[in-house]
Amino acid sequence: MSVNTVIKRTTTNTLHTLKQRGEKISMLTSYDYSMAKIVDEAGIDIILVGDSASNVMAGHETTLPITLDQMIYHAASVVRAAKRSLVVVDLPFGSYQGNSKEALNSAVRVMKESGAHAVKLEGGEEIADSIKRIITAGIPVMGHLGLTPQSIHKFGTYTVRAKHELEAEKLLQDVIVLEEAGCFAIVLEKIPAVLAEEATRRLVIPTIGIGAGPHCDGQVLVAQDMFGINKGFKPRFLRQYADLHEIMTNAVKSYVSDVKGGSFPNESEQY
Ligand code: KIV
Repeated sequence: MSVNTVIKRTTTNTLHTLKQRGEKISMLTSYDYSMAKIVDEAGIDIILVGDSASNVMAGHETTLPITLDQMIYHAASVVRAAKRSLVVVDLPFGSYQGNSKEALNSAVRVMKESGAHAVKLEGGEEIADSIKRIITAGIPVMGHLGLTPQSIHKFGTYTVRAKHELEAEKLLQDVIVLEEAGCFAIVLEKIPAVLAEEATRRLVIPTIGIGAGPHCDGQVLVAQDMFGINKGFKPRFLRQYADLHEIMTNAVKSYVSDVKGGSFPNESEQY
């Protein structure tokens, strides 16, 4: 790349244009500098610093334990690596549900302390006031409907959401509420493909699906899942693009064997 090359960063306006042109939007999670650098340089549109960091990075069973301070730490690491992607950060459980002032304070902390470009919140009408207040402060907001992992204890299961008429109707109302509140995009997680298609058709803003079929304006996956690092997790919606678990396991085995056998370091690997 020449020194004069200007790298153009994805913005919320870019996403709007992509939807208008019928071009799909790509989004992947990252929680640290090294992974974010690979993902950014490979050409992703959006990096999501998801609260799935609670599961993937910290080994918790749910996304509930991760704190705002921890999310800001992950987000700041990702922002240092991301030169062209839009970086969106999840507001974690308990940092915005209280009231709109609390939501705004949390969003402001994320933006100030991490340098990220937008925040994501889970929920529909019940958090519309908070979303409006955050947007009024100039902070772009991504919505998240369908399976909302921060409410796992309310539902008790991670199965497909909005399969029944009442829930589907509520979701179609909520996408409009979020669009009218000013969200620039909405994640639709684990809902029937026909419902995601209808929601996408009704909205001007883009939908980003995970387990929501091919008609969303974009797709998101957790990076560790699509890289095949996380061996035990194989939901139907997941396409695994690599088997890093096997590659990394073999690398560690070779290293252990070389160290134990005394072949590492060799002549050229010392001073
Ligand atoms: O936290 C996360 O990784 C997410 C995606 C699954 C959309 O919210």
